[in-house]
This record gives sequence, C-alpha cells and structure tokens, in this order.
Amino acid sequence: MKQVVIVPVVIVLGFLFLSSTSKRKLQEEKNAYSFSVKKGIEALEWGERDGKKVYLYTLTNKDGMEVKISNYGCTITGWIAPDKNGNKSNIVLGFDSLERYTRAVPYFGAVVGRYGNRIAKGQFTLDGTTYKLATNNGPNHLHGGNKGFDKRVWDVLPIDENKPLLVLHYISKDGEEGYPGNADVTVKYTLTDKDELEIEYNATTDKATPINLTNHSYFNLTGDVRNTILDHTVWIDADSYTPMDNTSIPTGEIKPVKGTPFDFTSPHKVGERIDSVRNGYDHNFVLNKKPNAFKRVASVFDALSGRKLEVYTTEPGLQFYSGNFLSPSLKTSGGQPIGRRTGLCMETQHFPNSPNQPNFPNTILRPGEKFHSVTKYKLSVVK
Ligand code: GLA
Repeated sequence: MKQVVIVPVVIVLGFLFLSSTSKRKLQEEKNAYSFSVKKGIEALEWGERDGKKVYLYTLTNKDGMEVKISNYGCTITGWIAPDKNGNKSNIVLGFDSLERYTRAVPYFGAVVGRYGNRIAKGQFTLDGTTYKLATNNGPNHLHGGNKGFDKRVWDVLPIDENKPLLVLHYISKDGEEGYPGNADVTVKYTLTDKDELEIEYNATTDKATPINLTNHSYFNLTGDVRNTILDHTVWIDADSYTPMDNTSIPTGEIKPVKGTPFDFTSPHKVGERIDSVRNGYDHNFVLNKKPNAFKRVASVFDALSGRKLEVYTTEPGLQFYSGNFLSPSLKTSGGQPIGRRTGLCMETQHFPNSPNQPNFPNTILRPGEKFHSVTKYKLSVVK
C-alpha cells in the first residue's frame, strides 16, 4: 500500500524539479546578453573574473541620462549626458570592455579601498600592532594595494525599489592586502531624475581597521578626450590644504590656501596656475564644513559644452587630481590616446596617511561601529 503512494509522489516531485531547472536554464539563456533588471536598469553580461560573473549595468533616468557601472571594481565606466545644445557624450574616462579594465588602468571610475589614497611606507600601527601593506606607489601604499577594491568582483544585491539604483557588496577578508579584520562594504549608486549620481558607502568590521572609500572617476566635461581639462573652471570650498613631501605624503601641517595656486575659493581655470605646482594638482583640500555634514563643496564648469558638475559630500577632504600621470600610450576603446590632463578627479575622502597622523580626522573603524559616507555629483548645463 505504502509503495503505491510513494512512487507516484516521487515521480511528480521529480517532474516538478526537472521542469523548474529547465525553466531556470531557459531564463539564464535569456539573460545571456542584455536584460532588464527593473525599471531604469539594464544589465549586460561582460565576462568573468575570479570565477565570478561580471556585468555592466546601465542606469537611466527620466531625461534619458545614462550612467554605466560594472560590478568589477564598482566601476563607473560611462556617464552619457547632454551638453548645452542637447548633444550627448560621455563625460568620464572609461572603456567598453572588461578585458581593458583588467590591464593597467589608473583606477578609472572605480571605488578605491580599503584605504583610498596613500599610507606612508605601507605601514601603520594600531592598538600596539604594526601592520605592513604593499608599497605599490614608490615607497608608499596607494588605493588599497596590489589588488584593491577596484580589482575585485562585487556582488549585486537585490533591491525592491523601482528606480535606477544599484547596490554592490563586497567582503574584504581579514588579512586581505595586509589589512586587519573582515570588512563588510556596501556601495549604493542612485541616478536621480535631477541628474545627480548619489554614492552611499556603508561598512562594518570585526577588528579595528583603517577605512577610506572614494570613487576615482576622471571627468572631462567636454565629452571629448582630445581636449584637456586645463580650461575647466574649478571652485573648491576649502580655506586650507595638506602640504606634502615629494612622495605625496602630507607633512601633517594644515596650511591656508590664501596667496597660493591652491586657492580655489573663487573659481579659477585649472591651467591658470598649474605650472607653478610641482607635477600639477594632486592635493588634498581641507573642506570648510562641520564633520559629517552633507554639503556642496566643489564645482567644475566647462564653457565649451556648458556642462557643470557640482560635488556634495559628508567627507572632510577632497583630493583634486588633474590627471598629471595620464599618458597617450593609454587609448580609449575607440583608439583615441588618453593624454596627460585629459581628465580630472574630485575624490571625496579622508586625508591621506591618516592612520599615521593623529591630528587628522579619524579613519579607524572599530567593531560595532558603522562607517557611513555620502557623495553626490550633480550635472547641469549652463546655456
Ligand atoms: C590618485 C593619486 C594620484 C594618482 C592617481 C592614479 O588620485 O592621488 O597621485 O596615483 O590616483 O594614477
């Protein structure tokens, strides 16, 4: 009697299982190229890295502005925006294949970490223990080491909200690149209908660790890499900056910008005073703001295209980098040389080498604490 009941049940269950796997297979095949994740997001299969799938997501807002982001390095690969005449072009440096990003690329559009920017001599002491990190930038540690967050495949978390929002997640293991503690990091990108890209960073850890996260996009508001950024007009709300030694490590001083080429408290063209700065701009500005307050801190304007970029952040510092180390041997996907100073970075962050500078704002995250940081880039056109 028992067998009479069990056998048909097993057959039915087996049939259900097989039909659900074949349905899933069909779905996966359908997903093989481009597919719609939800309203405002399309995904494209981009390849594989470290045994994980890499996608390129396109976030689109109501005006048709597009931001392209990959889960490889949490990287913004393109931002397609109109100029004053309504002509659309890409305003960030980037490539259109994953393979290109896995070669030597100076952090184009990526999220850099676990500690963005430099740590002197790749070393810091925390609670009595000295930690050694890779020295991948002369004598210093830069942007998280040899395989920082920019070279990792992040997971994409499912979200309910029906808007162009992408949530990326990465667990950086205890000891990875020499850093202590398992750091659990989430980056949330939202493209708003007001033409703003909001980036929210959250992190926790199970051991005290330094953490400093930023996005390393290179903007060229002309939308054409044949132009340099020397005619872009920059304003930075910073009365002081952190002078540095000749290996780009802050000396620890906080000096007024007044009377120096670092004074952007009133707008100046990048090229105006750049030749009086050794190697050009690649400096940390001390923003005029209360700790953690979310404030408009900088803007970039290009008269040629009429495009204007405004930067808002909760961070205390801004690394303004004028793309001094870009070299024409690097080519766009279309073969165009990416020459010196054809992109500029506005990296919102804590100050470089903070783990070794007790007078700088704290960058140590401890178990039970929550790291939280928000930056917004707003685009508009001035006619
Ligand atoms: C940062 C640094 C620069 C340079 C670039 C990447 O912005 O401050 O000195 O290393 O990254 O090339």
